Amino acid sequence: MNESTLQPKPACESYSEMTEIVLPSHTNPLGTAFGGQVMAWIDICAGIAAQRHARQVVVTASMDDLHFRSPIHKGEFVVLKAQVNRSFHTSMEVGVRVEAENPLTGERRHCSSAYLTFVALDESGRRVHIPPLTPETDEEKRRYEEAAERRRYRLERKNMERDVVRRAHAPLADSKSATP
Ligand SMILES: CC(C)(COP(=O)(O)OP(=O)(O)OC[C@H]1O[C@@H](n2cnc3c(N)ncnc32)[C@H](O)[C@@H]1OP(=O)(O)O)[C@@H](O)C(=O)NCCC(=O)NCCS
Repeated sequence: MNESTLQPKPACESYSEMTEIVLPSHTNPLGTAFGGQVMAWIDICAGIAAQRHARQVVVTASMDDLHFRSPIHKGEFVVLKAQVNRSFHTSMEVGVRVEAENPLTGERRHCSSAYLTFVALDESGRRVHIPPLTPETDEEKRRYEEAAERRRYRLERKNMERDVVRRAHAPLADSKSATP
């Protein structure tokens, strides 16, 4: 579909919330959740938000730096909230907030926040345009503005990393081509 014919959608239409419980199989020897398990839940919750916005199959292109502020203990609930912050052409940024909930008191604490980028694909795996996003609340408008800044930084970093890999392999390629 042509990008200009896509109808804008409000940010709140993509909202997605998930609650998990930390089972023994999710924990390390200290009885707290594995970072990789929390990352998988983040990816799922964010992916649902992205699909709600795009109504297309999406793949994860990247997850920005992730910091775990507080451990999550066995038996605690993990509450994940995700929403699309901004859509671009074929990609969109999703923000996820992770909170741990004490099942006995209901008290919650912020454990992590993450930004992921998803790309929408058609059934042949080709990238497709997604609807523009309309931020409505002040909070959504702030996230929308900040998402453009993060995208600039993210793509700059991606290009820098690509250059580093290219340079690291250059002597190898040269020595191979020099071999008779
Ligand atoms: C993500 C993917 C579709 C991007 O395809 P590509 O041909 O490299 O795309 P391009 O560089 O032309 O960029 C396409 C879009 O993705 C965005 N993008 C690409 N790489 C990105 C990255 N690392 N982080 C954020 N956005 C990224 C671009 O900004 C662009 O967005 P726009 O269309 O909204 O302007 C492709 O790299 C892929 O299929 N990766 C594997 C995805 C996957 O399997 N994920 C599961 C985890 S293993």
